[in-house]
Amino acid sequence: MKKAGKVAGRRRRRQAAGVIGPADSAAVANALLRWYARARRDLPWRRSQDPYRVWVSEIMLQQTQVERVKDFYLRFLERFPTVTALAAGTEHDVLRLWEGLGYYRRARQLHAAAKKLVAEHGGEFPQTVVGLRTLPGIGRYTAGAIASIALDQPEPIVEANSRRVIARLVGYAKPFDGPGSDEPIWEIATGLVPRQHPGRFNQALMDLGAMVCTPEQPLCGTCPLADHCEARRTDRVAEIPAKASRRAVKVVHETAVVVRRGARVLVVQRGPGEWWEGLWDFPRVPGGLRSVRRGIERSEVLGGLSCGATERRGKIAHSVTHHRITLDVVSCTAGRIGLAMRGRRWVTATALELLAMTSPGRRIARLVLPVSKRTRT
Ligand code: ADE
Repeated sequence: MKKAGKVAGRRRRRQAAGVIGPADSAAVANALLRWYARARRDLPWRRSQDPYRVWVSEIMLQQTQVERVKDFYLRFLERFPTVTALAAGTEHDVLRLWEGLGYYRRARQLHAAAKKLVAEHGGEFPQTVVGLRTLPGIGRYTAGAIASIALDQPEPIVEANSRRVIARLVGYAKPFDGPGSDEPIWEIATGLVPRQHPGRFNQALMDLGAMVCTPEQPLCGTCPLADHCEARRTDRVAEIPAKASRRAVKVVHETAVVVRRGARVLVVQRGPGEWWEGLWDFPRVPGGLRSVRRGIERSEVLGGLSCGATERRGKIAHSVTHHRITLDVVSCTAGRIGLAMRGRRWVTATALELLAMTSPGRRIARLVLPVSKRTRT
């Protein structure tokens, strides 16, 4: 499309959104930016406009609370201060630093994108949303965040907090319950984002959603957008956004087996397509304690290993994407060791500290292995 056509297209889309005219958009942006100047959260990634730093923070912030991200972010940047440093690291190093943050695919893609940036772009970030989106793990949200926050481009971003703010602002009452369901909010966000300070504006929307326009008991009395808010005017703040129906949770029971051989224990690496791909874990067998023997005999990942009597060591519960997992933990001593296999290692408690472990795997290590030898890296 030619440039003039693009601009007209964008204007049409803004008007199609239809809910907020240009004058109101400007008033909303001004009120929000004034509020942000005095109320913004002091967050470590806000001290720089370096696209690399913005990118790392935005990837970490996906599906993860701000408070949780802070320490991970600082540690990550200490180890990988530049995109070149990240590209030169191993995937395992990256996963180890990411351990505990969850959604490890993000970390693998971050690493892959860093390598691509160095190999194909001389370590420089593309300067457009379209260019940014060619990188692994950079979708509409992250591209908009980098473009607006680091590159000062008037690009919208919509995530859970800003989506709620905008839905209430315009009185958008439909639920967000699947792909594309927040498309109208993107349209409106496109119309709202100002040419001046788009990055501040986007972050202000997120801060307002986190601090004032909260899901429960929003502080409308102190909201800088109260005078513009359609949900407030029509007394529907509590109903917007409409609740999406929850996906059913699947309950799963498994047993983790800590197999000992002298001072070492057996760990297995999660394979492609599995949860926690690339991370290490204790081998698991399906079912609870009663079926653990049969599980060990039939286990592919144990590769013909046999062990003596199992000793019950505890039980932990954890969740992964709509699965609630109860995990019994047993230990035993290896008899026949079985096949040597890729993705299986016998490690000491000290070596285990250096491995990128799944979070339940790390909890099991804390439960079963002696504490004194452990030092966190
Ligand atoms: N959530 C996602 N990105 C954010 C940012 N830059 N500031 C605050 N919260 C966020």
